[in-house]
Amino acid sequence: MAIPDPALVVLVGASGSGKSTWAAQRYRPAEVVSSDGLRGVVGSGPADLDASTDAFAVLEAVVSARVGRRLTTVVDTLGFDTTRRRSWLTAARAAGLPAVAVVVTAPTAVCRQRNAARDRPVPAKVLAQQLRQLDVARADLAAEGWDDVVVVDTADTATAPSIEQPSAAAAPDGSRRTSTGVEVVLQLSRFPWGEDPLGWLRSMALAADEAGFSGLALMDHLVQIPQVGRAWETIPEPWVALGALAGLGTGLRLGTLVTPVTFRPAGVTAKAAATLSALTGGRAFLGVGAGWWEREHAGFGVPFPTARERLDTLDRSIRTMRALWAAGTKPYDDGRVSLPETTCYPRPVGPVPVLVGGNGEHRTLRIAAELGDGCNLTTTDPTTLSRKVAALHQHCADVGRPPDQVAVTVLDVPVVGRDRDDVWARVERLRGRTAASTFAARSHAGTVGQHRDRHAELAALGVSTVFLTTPDLGAPDDVLALADLVR
Ligand code: CTP
Ligand code: MG
Repeated sequence: MAIPDPALVVLVGASGSGKSTWAAQRYRPAEVVSSDGLRGVVGSGPADLDASTDAFAVLEAVVSARVGRRLTTVVDTLGFDTTRRRSWLTAARAAGLPAVAVVVTAPTAVCRQRNAARDRPVPAKVLAQQLRQLDVARADLAAEGWDDVVVVDTADTATAPSIEQPSAAAAPDGSRRTSTGVEVVLQLSRFPWGEDPLGWLRSMALAADEAGFSGLALMDHLVQIPQVGRAWETIPEPWVALGALAGLGTGLRLGTLVTPVTFRPAGVTAKAAATLSALTGGRAFLGVGAGWWEREHAGFGVPFPTARERLDTLDRSIRTMRALWAAGTKPYDDGRVSLPETTCYPRPVGPVPVLVGGNGEHRTLRIAAELGDGCNLTTTDPTTLSRKVAALHQHCADVGRPPDQVAVTVLDVPVVGRDRDDVWARVERLRGRTAASTFAARSHAGTVGQHRDRHAELAALGVSTVFLTTPDLGAPDDVLALADLVR
């Protein structure tokens, strides 16, 4: 029993039933529009009944404005007025916002007792009348067309519906697969390292290790990409930077996500990955992709052939790297790649997992199915993800590879906050000129507990590894704050 978010939430309940208390426990103050609160704004106080008309005029304006922006809006009034309820519901429908009625009840004796204990109790007769109105409203709600009618008994807090699930217990076995079933690798894409590049990098990696991440991945770009930051912001050469982290004594797997095959001849990348594997005792992995950003190629004098040629190169590169990592030095020829010898020392310590980055269902996933140890998708939308996984598995069937040999991994860039207030402060800071509701939806803005649930859903769709980064990851504390998502 969970209430959608964002949503219009209309409270219905007698005085003292606990409506305002319930709302305050779950929502930010700005999300709750209260007739009592507005009586205190436009009148002398929450009980100033003479100010009701003005208070409701403001309330209607606030509800209409927030719902129009698809922002969560909790309407805290008695909720007995059918006409108002219907008009709020209509506004939510028009905005495409889910609309839920929450009936807040408590046993009559409890309502009376709470009422009596208040500063300005409602007269007993009025309360009795409200309880009759509540029965009428409850009967009407079913026919009004709400997406859900939730009944909350505030005398029984255990059954209260939540808009977020509490986070689950810690991993039982000390493994680095989380209790949601996925492995989580920290992806660093921003490098605000100030005057101490090495110190910053090390402290981020140590924090990732302490938080329980299974690995650390670096982007491989020559210029910071527009999806992440400004072109003049720092982005280090990843193999050099990973080398600096190899000796920290962490258990982190280290690698790139992803290395474009256009940047370096495949054999040179194979050499770098084999060296990192040797330096880390077998903890290296390699994300590879066809490359997509023309600007960084042009600016560095690196050729940027057509998409078809780049995908051909991706295919040949993986074959080349695997040949160079294999035992011995013998010649290699598989019909597409021909090498007179395969002399590459150091050898990697154990296999270097190769993840093929990219969402292309036709060729990229074909290459992943044929040559990869996994794919890396940049979508976490369940519908799109299911389609990509189905395409990958079809390719696996076509090339005769068991699908469990090709891991499904995703890049996840959510906004993560400690609590609802923190989530929304981050949304407001990060959204730029994008509407808050749009940005929040796109970035799955939520608490750690909500992201755990999302990761569990990804696991159910077949995802084994989540490469996680956040848009505001800048210091070790930001990494440690993700610990509950990782364990
Ligand atoms: N209360 C409580 N336990 C709850 C809910 C409420 O003890 N689970 C108490 C509150 O502390 C408050 C009183 O009951 O003193 C009324 O709660 P409130 O949330 O203010 O009730 P409302 O339904 O908002 O009442 P009103 O319609 O008068 O605003
Ligand atoms: Mg109230």
